[in-house]
Amino acid sequence: MSIEYTHHEFDVIVIGAGGAGLRAAIESARCGVKTAIISKSLLGKAHTVMAEGGCAAALQNADPRDNWKVHFHDTMKGSKWLADWKMAEFHAKEAPERVRELEQWGAVFDRTKTNLINQRNFGGHTFPRLAHVGDSTGLEIIRTLQEKGIHSGIDIFMEYTVTDLFKNNEGECIGCIGYNRVDGEIHSFSAKSIILATGGITRCWSVCSGSWEYTGDGHALALKAGAELRDMEFVQFHPTGMVWPPSVRGILVTEGVRGEGGRLLNSENERFMFNYVPEMFAGDHAETIEESNQWVEEVVSGKLATVRRPPELLTRDVVAKAINSEVKAGRGSPHGGAFLDISHRGEEAILKKLPSMHHQFKELAGVDISKEPMEVGPTAHYVMGGIRVNAKTQESCVPGLFACGEVASGLHGANRLGGNSLSDLIVFGKRAGEFASENAKEREQPKIDENEIQKAANKILAPLMKKEGENPGKIYDELRDMMQENVGIIRTKEEMISALTKLEEFEERQKSTFSGTSRKYNSGWHQALDLINMIIVSKAATLAALTREESRGGHTRDDFPTPDDDYWGQTLNVIWMDDGEVKIKQEEKEEMRDDLKETIKEVKAMIAERAAEQGSDE
Ligand code: FUM
Repeated sequence: MSIEYTHHEFDVIVIGAGGAGLRAAIESARCGVKTAIISKSLLGKAHTVMAEGGCAAALQNADPRDNWKVHFHDTMKGSKWLADWKMAEFHAKEAPERVRELEQWGAVFDRTKTNLINQRNFGGHTFPRLAHVGDSTGLEIIRTLQEKGIHSGIDIFMEYTVTDLFKNNEGECIGCIGYNRVDGEIHSFSAKSIILATGGITRCWSVCSGSWEYTGDGHALALKAGAELRDMEFVQFHPTGMVWPPSVRGILVTEGVRGEGGRLLNSENERFMFNYVPEMFAGDHAETIEESNQWVEEVVSGKLATVRRPPELLTRDVVAKAINSEVKAGRGSPHGGAFLDISHRGEEAILKKLPSMHHQFKELAGVDISKEPMEVGPTAHYVMGGIRVNAKTQESCVPGLFACGEVASGLHGANRLGGNSLSDLIVFGKRAGEFASENAKEREQPKIDENEIQKAANKILAPLMKKEGENPGKIYDELRDMMQENVGIIRTKEEMISALTKLEEFEERQKSTFSGTSRKYNSGWHQALDLINMIIVSKAATLAALTREESRGGHTRDDFPTPDDDYWGQTLNVIWMDDGEVKIKQEEKEEMRDDLKETIKEVKAMIAERAAEQGSDE
């Protein structure tokens, strides 16, 4: 029986309405092509809001010593030298212009005394670099892009889930199919270019900062369409999520708290981060409590900091693992985390710079952070891995299929610096929109084969066609617990092999789920379909993690605790799909251009000189 559907035609379709998707759509519409956004949830509700503390760009407002070269160096170093240096170069050079553009479009950033966009410190950034709006920066950016977007002539399909992409005989991407989550109707879309901007995969872990949309849809759509993913083993466990009460476990506590001078303490009231400064960062960070306190005083009084940053501002991978180690050593907080204390900054400063954190802890945990410490612990926050794209155009290896934001990969390598996600999405969202529209201008409106549409529509309705089966919600919960347990912050070979076996079992169980027969806002049906993507991306992350026999950035192996610079420091894991199977291969990373190697040397020398001057002041 033929399934009824509604058909739409556009030049460019953007799937996803977070910061990257909105920015891409704005650019595409600005280039004069007919553009639509398909969004899984309501417009304005995106994980972008979880980048609370700021957007990294070398604006040089808070410290004139900053520039794109230092930002480039910091991003590469933070990535443990695995980032795509071409993307890191575009990003560092273009982020300031993109931030100023947001300001012109109405974003109300916090100000310096001289009325410039203010910038705060974050882990791994040599200078204060994060343009921010209190602790709600992502929210303000989404609000601004949304306002701009709705006046840009973009068609918006809200609460639609895309389940498949279509390709023509030449292997070009020509459209997609999905369903309206509210009424269950099926819609097909013909497009000359498609941009995936679906965000990440962190919903596959039970303790995460992401919301329900984060089921890896774009990663899975791309794989099924023949694109490649890279860096999937690198999952960022943000060091500070809420740990108590259980109902709010995982909700983000912004790094902005540490950027504003927050201190991490164990149950013995020790500032334990001083014990965890790795060789790679030695010299960049305070060695004594006095030095760290002086840094806070200098920053608070608006001076250029002359002393090294506190160890709480080491990169996220380092801080998350340190908290994990303290808990394992029996020095954790009562509910299995660490204490984060900002109370020394006083109520007035806290209410000014961290109002959402103050509200969040008061309302959700009954804690007044201006008087007492918070309890925090690692939470799955971001996946560095994603669709492999051309650095300049953001096109994947499937012609006509583009990707930007968290679903794309390359900029962050093994570990992302906080604040680099908001700048990533505005820099590469713009690029994706620009090049997708250019591609669209060169193509005819594609025609999608009716048989292909019917086949894909049947897959969408499959979970509704059964008479009985397992509740998809049960599989969903079990899968997340399994990933948390077996592919978490510290990994072992045995656990990951067991995870892969369990994922095969989940795949079988997914096929026999029963979620009732109604198409009208049937969340069980939606979950049954989400599970398909969650299983694919969980397999990709696990397989990559099992293969990388070393520890680097967001990937830590208990059985291979040190980095292997000779092999894995030069090698990427690339995932693709063959006949429904997730496959993996290794590829040597591309050697950096000579002038950029010089740039890195120049910045390293500047940082060393600064550290030496500091040493002689003491
Ligand atoms: O901690 C935060 O505010 C998160 C920022 C980010 O992930 O970039």
